[in-house]
Formats: sequence, C-alpha cells, structure tokens
Amino acid sequence: MDRQNRTIVVFGATGRQGGAVARHLASEGWRVRGVSRNPAGARAQALRDVGVEMVQADMGDRSSLDRTLEGAYGVFSVQNYWMYGYGPEIRQGINVADAAHAAGIQHLVYSSVGGAERNTGVSHFESKWRIEQRIRELELPATIVRPVFFMENLLGWVHHDPENNLWTMRMPMPPDRPLQMIAVTDIGGFVALVFDDAGRFRGEALELAGDEVSMSQAARMISQHLGEPVEYAEMPMDEHRAQSPESADMFAWFIRAGYQADIAALRQMYPPLLTFGEWLDRVGFADRLRERQVDRSRA
Ligand SMILES: NC(=O)c1ccc[n+]([C@@H]2O[C@H](COP(=O)([O-])OP(=O)(O)OC[C@H]3O[C@@H](n4cnc5c(N)ncnc54)[C@H](OP(=O)(O)O)[C@@H]3O)[C@@H](O)[C@H]2O)c1
Repeated sequence: MDRQNRTIVVFGATGRQGGAVARHLASEGWRVRGVSRNPAGARAQALRDVGVEMVQADMGDRSSLDRTLEGAYGVFSVQNYWMYGYGPEIRQGINVADAAHAAGIQHLVYSSVGGAERNTGVSHFESKWRIEQRIRELELPATIVRPVFFMENLLGWVHHDPENNLWTMRMPMPPDRPLQMIAVTDIGGFVALVFDDAGRFRGEALELAGDEVSMSQAARMISQHLGEPVEYAEMPMDEHRAQSPESADMFAWFIRAGYQADIAALRQMYPPLLTFGEWLDRVGFADRLRERQVDRSRA
C-alpha cells in the first residue's frame, strides 16, 4: 500500500478513537488529515506535532465536509452519541457516509459498536446500526469495526473512600458475568491494519475486543496492580437507571446477551492486542486513579 501518497481523513481525531487512529496511521507513514470543530485547540496542536494536518469541519453541516474530503483516499468515521443523542448521531454518520460517496472515497472505515447488528434495542447501538445501513445502501467500499466496552471506562467506576481508606469498584454488573473489553489504542492499531490490507477487509465487519474478564476478576487485577485491596460491589440496576437510563439499557444488554468478539482470531490478525492486565500496566492505571483522587479531594 502506497501510504505516503494517500490521505486518510480522520473524524474525531481530537477524541479517543479518532486520536488513536490518527496516531497509528501517522506513525505508519500515511498522510493523515484530522477533522476538528476547533483546529486551533491544544489537542489539534498535539496532533500537528506528530505530523497530522488539521482541518475544520462540522459533521452536522454536510456542506463543510466536501472540502475536507477533497483528494482523500480513505475516511475514518466516528460520532459521539453522548454529546448529541440518537437523531443527530445518525445525521452526522449519514453526512460523513454521503460525503465519502460523493468524493469517491476508496475505503471508509466506520466505527460502530459491538452487537449493533444483533437487535439490541439500546438506542446508542441502534443509531450506529442505522448508519451502517446507510453505508451499505450506498455500496461504499467500507469496513465496519464494532468495538466493545473500552477498558478506559473503568477509570470512572473505581472510587476511593478516604475515611476508610477503601477502594471500591461498583458497577451494575453481577460479579461473575464476563464482559469483553478493548483498549482504545488497539482500535487505532486495528483500523490502521484494516486500511493497510484493504483487499482483505473491504466489505467486512469486525467486532473488536482484546480481553474478557468478569468484574470481580477485574477488581482483583486492579487490586494487584494498585498494591491495595479493591472491593467489587454490584450496583443495583435501578440505582444506575436513575442516573442514566441509556447506560442502564446497555448494561442490561451486557447481562442478558453481551458482546461476541472472537478474541483469539483477532489476536492472530493483530498480535499487539492488549489484555486487560497488560493495559493496566501500559496506561499506568494506578497513577491515573490516584491522580483523579487528588483532583477530587481538591474540588
Ligand atoms: N465508551 C465505550 O465503551 C464505547 C464502546 C463502543 C463504542 N463507543 C462509542 O464511541 C463513540 C464516541 O467515540 P470517542 O470516545 O472516540 O469520542 P470522543 O473521545 O468524545 O471524541 C469525539 C470527537 O468528535 C469530534 N466531534 C464532536 N462533534 C463533532 C462535530 N459536530 N463535527 C466534527 N467533529 C465532532 C470532537 O472533536 P472536536 O471537539 O475537536 O471537534 C471529539 O474529539 C460514542 O458514539 C460511543 O457510543 C463507546
């Protein structure tokens, strides 16, 4: 693949998935054009520092996308449900697909979610299924990646009680129910592999996970990594539903159905795929937890 002379436009480049994709592609020698609503910001500057060209566009504004895609070979598309909700997420995803079609893009990689094709009834999975359908209707040369639960999410579920000096991981999941997870960096690595081997991956859909652990196992592994006990406690689903009905729908689906990535096959395709234990060390999870604790006590 002639990477140096081919431009890949990366939506969400200043975010988690797009950021990982942009960095992997740039480090592997592709020309990368990152899209941001604010290309003057610090996150955009950090991408420029690793050789990414940054341009301004808004996925909600179809007319801003044509210029962005000019002369490009490939596109990575991702939207954020949590910022906009069901309808706008679909509109943005369709805008990117339509613009890719109009520009004659040779390879679109769309990041959906694990299980999107399996009738989950979860709004932010169904929105992605609708975008996938548009990509198929347009007969775009495309690959769908469907990442599972991000390992990064766990940072938000582990808390420290300073009075009793106790770490607790509390989630609306039974302690022994396994959950497939993926490190965000591996989404980037996998998408780079997909662009590199277009002949193999065009027309394919791949559910992406790097490990499968139960929450009680995860708490034990975090405890070992942290060097302090971490207790796992199951949060009643009704309590979580009161905080976020959408997230509760997703956890209820994790319990009743769940992700189905073929992790062994994925690791053969992409050997660097991180296990949960490797990821804890790689990102310095303990330091990140402690930093967050200090930030909270200052707030
Ligand atoms: N967390 C999980 O476990 C998980 C698992 C599977 C799938 N997902 C899905 O992942 C998606 C979010 O991905 P992420 O975590 O990578 O998102 P993220 O980190 O929040 O990044 C989203 C990026 O999109 C850009 N953006 C937002 N609105 C835009 C617009 N109107 N036009 C152009 N760019 C825009 C933002 O860039 P600027 O601010 O620079 O414009 C931002 O950096 C969600 O839809 C979620 O459902 C999450």
